[in-house]
Amino acid sequence: MPRTGLILGIESSCDETAAAIVERGARTVSSVVASQIATHARYGGVVPELASREHLRAIVPVVRAALAEAHVSLADLDAIAVTSGPGLAGALLVGITYGKALAFANHLPLIAVNHLEGHIHAVLLNEREIASGGVDAASTAGPETGDTSALALVVSGGHTHLYLAQPKNGTWSYTLVGRTLDDAAGEAFDKVAKLLGLGYPGGPWIDALARFGNPHVVPFSFAQIKTKVHLAGKAPRTKAAKTAPIARLDPHFLFSFSGIKTAVLRYVELHGLRAEARARVSRVLKDFRPPQTREEALALCPQPTLDLIASFQHAVIGDLMKKTFAAAESLGTRRILITGGVAANRELRERFTREAAARGVRISFPTLALSTDNAAMIAAAAWPRLLAQDFAPPELSADPSLALS
Ligand code: KG4
Ligand code: ZN
Repeated sequence: MPRTGLILGIESSCDETAAAIVERGARTVSSVVASQIATHARYGGVVPELASREHLRAIVPVVRAALAEAHVSLADLDAIAVTSGPGLAGALLVGITYGKALAFANHLPLIAVNHLEGHIHAVLLNEREIASGGVDAASTAGPETGDTSALALVVSGGHTHLYLAQPKNGTWSYTLVGRTLDDAAGEAFDKVAKLLGLGYPGGPWIDALARFGNPHVVPFSFAQIKTKVHLAGKAPRTKAAKTAPIARLDPHFLFSFSGIKTAVLRYVELHGLRAEARARVSRVLKDFRPPQTREEALALCPQPTLDLIASFQHAVIGDLMKKTFAAAESLGTRRILITGGVAANRELRERFTREAAARGVRISFPTLALSTDNAAMIAAAAWPRLLAQDFAPPELSADPSLALS
């Protein structure tokens, strides 16, 4: 049985090295995230070799900082949890190898967590923290009591997946309901930002600029996906698509974001927005800094670019909403969890919240800090596994396309 309920979570699947201490899956005691944005920004995307090198540099100080901030030592822990996939193989291996070594040296069990399950537990962790009102979570009812089935939309740079999450004997089971066939929504944000000459990652830039544009200027649309066309002997094209099979999924819950990126590119070329986009690229390379003020944001982009950005964001969010609420209705689910980096988007939160209220559906998001990659979500997801004594084997390795279900 757990002694302290304290789990050290380690996350290194992409471009954040993170460590956190979470108590009983319900209270974040410390959470440290070392971002590699500055390293990758000049390349306009994550460079896997650089990511591994940066994780190697950061892992020891980040874990030490998480322990120090929590005022605990390794001897106080009940377990160590690491992200085992999906993600970049070299990046994942840094966290797994260090987690294994720490667990072995300190006679602690090691728990392997799927990164997507982590994102889902970021919302559950946040809900428990709110429910406990900051009171010591250990004194509230067990974190798994009161949990009910929910439709979870994991919308990040690598994934746009819909899962039915169901509590079962203290742990959770996940059924894939829908997913993207090509790019993830966050990837579309990043690619559009890149082609417009904005910085990396693109989501926060698009988010910051969209509110200054008219979302109804460019009528982007999403065609209904016909599964048969995509299934006819074709392998999924991206790493996101590889993490889950598409057979037997309802085509109404499938996403595709590669077309809108091409549509944005065509619009940019047709409307002569290319030259000023190039000017922004050189500015970004010289001095990477997202817009800080309304004036700076407006000075960066002329009105047609702002309208294009607003229209793109509006269309992507509209598509995410349409399919998520349709899936919830079809499954009879009255509870929706939205998580992953794109869940930090302001318009997404506002529109999903309004629609959920109109439909009488309960909707939850993580805090902004828990939306993007972090280790608190990994430690939180590990808690039910610790109770179930579901430990990783000594030969645990990275699984870059680990599926959740
Ligand atoms: O969950 P995350 O940190 O890493 C992955 O697991 O992929 O998500 C990163 C993604 C990036 O594509 C980034 O552009 C996007 O989340 N993102 C946003 C916002 N903040 C981050 N997208 C839209 N609006 C935002 N505010
Ligand atoms: Zn993530």
